[in-house]
Amino acid sequence: MRTFEQISALRTYLRGLRQERKTVGFVPTMGALHAGHLSLVQRAKGDCDVVVVSIFVNPTQFGPQEDYSKYPRDTSRDMQLTSNAGVDALFLPTNEDIYPAGFQTWVDVTDISQPLEGVRRPGHYRGVATIVTKLLNIVQPDIAYFGQKDYQQFLVVERLARDLNMPSTIQMVPTLRETDGLALSSRNAYLSEEERSAATLLSRLLSLAGRRVLEGVSSAQELRRELEALVSEEPLAALEYIELANPDTLQPVENLEEGLTLVVAAIKIGKTRLIDNALIAPEGMASPRPRVSRGV
Ligand code: PAJ
Repeated sequence: MRTFEQISALRTYLRGLRQERKTVGFVPTMGALHAGHLSLVQRAKGDCDVVVVSIFVNPTQFGPQEDYSKYPRDTSRDMQLTSNAGVDALFLPTNEDIYPAGFQTWVDVTDISQPLEGVRRPGHYRGVATIVTKLLNIVQPDIAYFGQKDYQQFLVVERLARDLNMPSTIQMVPTLRETDGLALSSRNAYLSEEERSAATLLSRLLSLAGRRVLEGVSSAQELRRELEALVSEEPLAALEYIELANPDTLQPVENLEEGLTLVVAAIKIGKTRLIDNALIAPEGMASPRPRVSRGV
């Protein structure tokens, strides 16, 4: 595996690959890698000739009260994991190269950034959209991979790629879960043993929502109340939100019979904030598939 800190060195390497007509898959991450990240890598390896992974804990997507300084960092372990996974190139840019003195250009994806996480984490998606734009400009991949785990993030990236005429295809990869349903996340490392068992609440909520809609519950309001009741039974959990939303616009839905619905939740387990989501559909509809948006 090749590692690059400098943007120019990575560009030279990628230029060579393009001359050889190799296709490039790209997986941007903030490190503290786990099997969820590696599932994106596996998908990229299946689709593309060469796989590039970036690790950059992006300061501009963390709010002032958030965990930027204590976000888990373990570069040597991440290098082992990516190398074992067959990653071709690891990009580890420095803060100074990504945000040089005088930096003042931001990417703001307006509507789709506003609801859900946008309300609770002001400025978060501006930071995400800006760093992802920069990384896509640097790597110029054929396909860039993002997890369904961060569904709204995927929509933000899909939108900016279209709006800024980026040629990369933006591919969603399904959420990888532990056997008890907990979605893999770097933030799971913060959970105590007791909190770890309480954290299955999120996936239990999503399963319940899927079951209820199959059973014919059509009122989003009724379902939401039922889900909120389940959260209130867990003493370690504090609800931030549960929404039943249109999977394209993220606007709330009222009637669950109309098509696919995104059920999405943010819940604090102790001090750790976890998010999760699933697409649910009434009986008779095809099972939800991860989205992909072709480059233009
Ligand atoms: P990070 O949280 O490190 O996640 C990197 C990628 O891995 C994201 O696309 C995320 O959705 C995906 N991912 C995380 N957990 C997953 C799981 N259990 N199953 C499948 N995919 C999973 O998301 C970010 O970093 C940053 O915001 C970034 C896009 C790198 C911009 O800084």
